[in-house]
Amino acid sequence: MQKNVQLAKKTLEKGDLVIFPTETVYGLGGDSTNQRAIKKIYNLKKRPLTNPIICHFKNVEHVNQNFKISKIDSLLINLFWPGALTLILQKKLSSIISPLVSNNSDLVGCRIPNHPIAIELLNNVNFPIAAPSANIATKISSTHFSHISDNLKKNSFILKSGSSSLGLESTVIQTFNNKIEILRLGSITIEELIKKIPDIKIEIRNKNSALSPGNQFKHYSPNHPIRLNVKEVRNDECLLNFGKNNLNSKIFEYNLSVKGDLREASKNFFNYLYLIDKLECKGIAIAPIPDYDLGRTINDRLVRASY
Ligand code: TXA
Ligand code: MG
Repeated sequence: MQKNVQLAKKTLEKGDLVIFPTETVYGLGGDSTNQRAIKKIYNLKKRPLTNPIICHFKNVEHVNQNFKISKIDSLLINLFWPGALTLILQKKLSSIISPLVSNNSDLVGCRIPNHPIAIELLNNVNFPIAAPSANIATKISSTHFSHISDNLKKNSFILKSGSSSLGLESTVIQTFNNKIEILRLGSITIEELIKKIPDIKIEIRNKNSALSPGNQFKHYSPNHPIRLNVKEVRNDECLLNFGKNNLNSKIFEYNLSVKGDLREASKNFFNYLYLIDKLECKGIAIAPIPDYDLGRTINDRLVRASY
């Protein structure tokens, strides 16, 4: 085991917190069976207790020990785990997960991440790791350790890695007998789901539903005001651009993907939003981004960032 993973393991076992990389965004992790550790996550992140935290597992067997898995769940698990799918599953009575993780509900978000460091950490502790994204509530998610705020860094052990390979959070899904509902758009897109399961009915859950608590809040906000879908850039604005067009900033521009590739744009998204927010300007103008596939997820984040 890598030495720093060993230190991270000890930190978690003491009930303290570890920031670790995943393929989507960095997570702020604690022992999901330890109520004190979970409380620390909510406090540090300044997150309301009503917004539940997802649990990360090392393998399906461990998920199965704690949760009921339906036929459609199994299908999704086989297709997308390890990966950027968070499944809302119902606890078994034997579950060891702290009720605090899910605001006392027996429905818990579960995921097996696909990142070598996350996997090594999970393989070396004997509990699932509860971890929201490693950012202060309402602020931008971290796809590189340099994005993580000082207060989070000061109060946790950090496992550093490079930039996240996907760059957008997992897709949160709950299944029913005859359909799947998307609670949060993410790195796995509707187009990908339809391609892999052509006969499945997919719905996007109403943003105001109490069952989709994380979607009700202002989120992903930079400090500067942002304007979406701009046709022109004001003199005092920076530009977050996409593809080739006539938009121009007098101050500075980042282009999410010059060639208009949504995968590249997703990977750059939080990093460029973080960097552009450091610049001296009055606001951030955002170029139109196509509203399909990963573009739909990016637009979801942008709308909530402009809230
Ligand atoms: O990619 C990711 O999902 C990252 C990495 C670290 O795994 N984690 C992450 O966690 O983004 P967080 O807490 O920032 O977002 C999880 C989302 C929130 O919108 C939350 O409301 C929703 O999932 N969620 C979690 N548990 C839920 C539950 N039991 N019922 C309904 N929604 C839930
Ligand atoms: Mg988050």
